[in-house]
Amino acid sequence: MQQPSKPDLLRIENLTKVFHIRQGFSSRQFHAVDEATLSLKADKPEIFSVAGESGSGKTTLARMILGMEEPSTGILNYKGRSIARLSRREKRSWFFKEVQPVFQDPFATFSPLKRVDHYLYETVQNYGMAKRNQADSYINEVLAQVGLSLAEVKGRYPNELSGGQAQRVSIARSLITKPSLIVADEPVSMLDASLRMSIVNMFRQLKEEQQVSILYITHDLATAYYAADRIAVMLRGWIVEMGPVERVLGNPQHPYTQNLKNSIPDVDPDNGWDQKVNLADLEAEEYTRTGCKFAGRCPAVMDICRKKVPPNYIHDGRMVKCFLYEDEAEAIHEGASVVPQ
Ligand SMILES: Nc1ncnc2c1ncn2[C@@H]1O[C@H](COP(=O)(O)OP(=O)(O)OP(=O)(O)O)[C@@H](O)[C@H]1O
Ligand SMILES: [Mg+2]
Repeated sequence: MQQPSKPDLLRIENLTKVFHIRQGFSSRQFHAVDEATLSLKADKPEIFSVAGESGSGKTTLARMILGMEEPSTGILNYKGRSIARLSRREKRSWFFKEVQPVFQDPFATFSPLKRVDHYLYETVQNYGMAKRNQADSYINEVLAQVGLSLAEVKGRYPNELSGGQAQRVSIARSLITKPSLIVADEPVSMLDASLRMSIVNMFRQLKEEQQVSILYITHDLATAYYAADRIAVMLRGWIVEMGPVERVLGNPQHPYTQNLKNSIPDVDPDNGWDQKVNLADLEAEEYTRTGCKFAGRCPAVMDICRKKVPPNYIHDGRMVKCFLYEDEAEAIHEGASVVPQ
C-alpha cells in the first residue's frame, strides 16, 4: 500500500494580502502580496531566499508566515495545517515553537536595560525546553551552535556586545525551541559587509547540523547567491522568478531579475539597489498597474505586457512570470504548486 506523502513544511498557494490605504475621503486598496505560491519540503531542509527591492512585499509575506498578519486570501499551511485556523493555544504550544523569527536589528529585539541572557533563560522556561537546573548547559549548547558560549554572554547588556555578537545571540534565542523553520527578515543588513558572510555561513551550518530550514529575506543578492538553495524574486507583491539560486541569479530570465543583478556592482555587495534608484514614487503606481507591474521600467516591454497579467511559466528550470517566454514555455496552472525544486 502506498504511504500517504508527508505534508510540506510550508505550503503557500495564491497567498494574497490586501491593504487599504486612505487617501483624503476615499480609500484605495492594493495587494502587498499578490497570489504568491511556493513550498518548502519537510524532509529536506533548505535555505530559501526571498529577494526584491524595498516595498516589494517581503516583510508582509514573512509576517503572514509567522502568523503575525492574517492573509486576505490563499492557502498558508505549515506541516499540513492552516496557520490561520490554529487556536491560540495551538499557536503557543506548537506553532511558535516550530517557526521562529529573526529580525533585522538585534538591538531592537533586546531591551537595553536587560541582560541578554535573560531572553535565553526566558525562552527556555516559557517553552519548557529544559529543567531549571539544566538551563545553563542547554543554553550553552545552543550558543555553541552560533559560535558563542554562555560564559561570553552571561551578565552582558546589549550595548556590551558587537552587532555581530548581538545578532548571533538573537539567532541563538530563535534556536532554543528547536524550530523547523526560521524566518529571518534582513538579518544581516545592519551588519558590516565582513560580518555578513559569517552569519550566512552560520545559516548554512545550522541547516546541515540542526536540520532547520531558513527563509532568508534579503536585499543583498551576493549573500543570497552564496547561502541559498532556492530563491524567489519579488516585485510589487508578485513572485516574478523562482527556482534554484544558481539558475535564477546565475542566468536570470525575468527582465526585473536581470535589472536587479546588473544594478549591483559585483565588487561591492554592500551597495543595495535601492540606494541607487529612488523607487518611492514608482511604488504606488506599479502596485496598481494593469498588466505586468514591471512594464513601465522593462527594457523588453511588449504591447501585451500593458494589458494582461503574465502567467507563471516554467522555463529553463525555474518559474518566470513574463510574456517573453510564452512561446517556448509551459504555463503553470493557476494554484498549482509545481515549482522547480
Ligand atoms: N500595515 C500596512 N498597511 C498598509 N500598507 C502596508 C502595511 N504594511 C506594509 N504596507 C505596504 O506594503 C508594501 C510592501 O511592504 P513590505 O514591508 O512588505 O515590503 P518589503 O519588501 O519588506 O520592503 P523593505 O525591503 O523596505 O523592507 C509597501 O508599499 C508598504 O508600504
Ligand atoms: Mg521589509
